[in-house]
Amino acid sequence: MQIGVIGCGNMGQALIHGMLKVGFMHPSSLVVWDSDRGKLKKVSRVFKVRVGCSNPEAARAGIIILAVKPQQMEEVLEEIKGSLAHRPLVISIAAGVSTRWIEKRLGKGIPVVRVMPNTPALVGVGMSAVAGGTAAGQGALRTAERILGCVGRVVRVPERMINAVTAVSGSGPAYFFYLMEKMIETGRALGLPRAVAQELVLQTAAGAALLAASSGEDPRALRARVTSKGGTTEAAFKVFERGQLGAVLERGIRSAAARAKEMGG
Ligand SMILES: NC(=O)c1ccc[n+]([C@@H]2O[C@H](COP(=O)([O-])OP(=O)(O)OC[C@H]3O[C@@H](n4cnc5c(N)ncnc54)[C@H](OP(=O)(O)O)[C@@H]3O)[C@@H](O)[C@H]2O)c1
Repeated sequence: MQIGVIGCGNMGQALIHGMLKVGFMHPSSLVVWDSDRGKLKKVSRVFKVRVGCSNPEAARAGIIILAVKPQQMEEVLEEIKGSLAHRPLVISIAAGVSTRWIEKRLGKGIPVVRVMPNTPALVGVGMSAVAGGTAAGQGALRTAERILGCVGRVVRVPERMINAVTAVSGSGPAYFFYLMEKMIETGRALGLPRAVAQELVLQTAAGAALLAASSGEDPRALRARVTSKGGTTEAAFKVFERGQLGAVLERGIRSAAARAKEMGG
């Protein structure tokens, strides 16, 4: 089985890297294409994969991964639609582009799986959700899950939930980065050297995530354990609650979901 990767930017390269790293594919079974020749050169040099000479050539593979920006999808689908007589599995990671929209352009019967990944996929700890179109059966979904599983964890959801996924895990890394940013800035303001503040915050974030994931306990229970009566954490939370931080976060995440819907999801 060959996989054609169309678009070798951040996410395309993360997927290529992940599939090769875990041994899911051999470099000679990956055929890639990108309109940016510089990126193609780099991908060929770094990953030793086959570089095709057009999008239709990459689309001759049994599985096609579309990793271009949403606004580039129309042009790419137009280019490849004549090369799909073999009914490949089409996996799209474009945000806000529905399987129905893709099916309409590629024709009936092409199995399409839509994925919402996130940027930690770049370092192999991504979180992706997959949703199948009308012609995507269990086998297609399992294949997409295995591919995205090369760069992190995967859940399967009905497509109507993709906007919520986008708001929670698609945009989610940015929420945590913001919290890190603020913690580092405040550490600095309290007199810590930048490098020390950064190390304290990054390790605390990684440790908290690992503890929450491995303990199997609810984050609320873990938080309660750090919050002793009359202590420092409680002092922080009194201020957070007075400023209605929880409600602000909820409004922000709801707004991201609404924007995903507006964008065509
Ligand atoms: N990055 C994220 O946080 C994230 C998260 C979830 C989902 N996604 C989705 O992942 C997709 C890719 O994102 P990215 O950050 O990897 O984008 P990117 O770095 O811009 O990569 C897209 C690549 O496709 C190339 N391209 C443009 N038009 C093309 C065409 N007609 N044929 C072949 N290649 C073409 C681009 O070249 P040029 O640079 O020359 O245009 C670029 O190298 C997007 O649809 C995005 O919605 C991204």
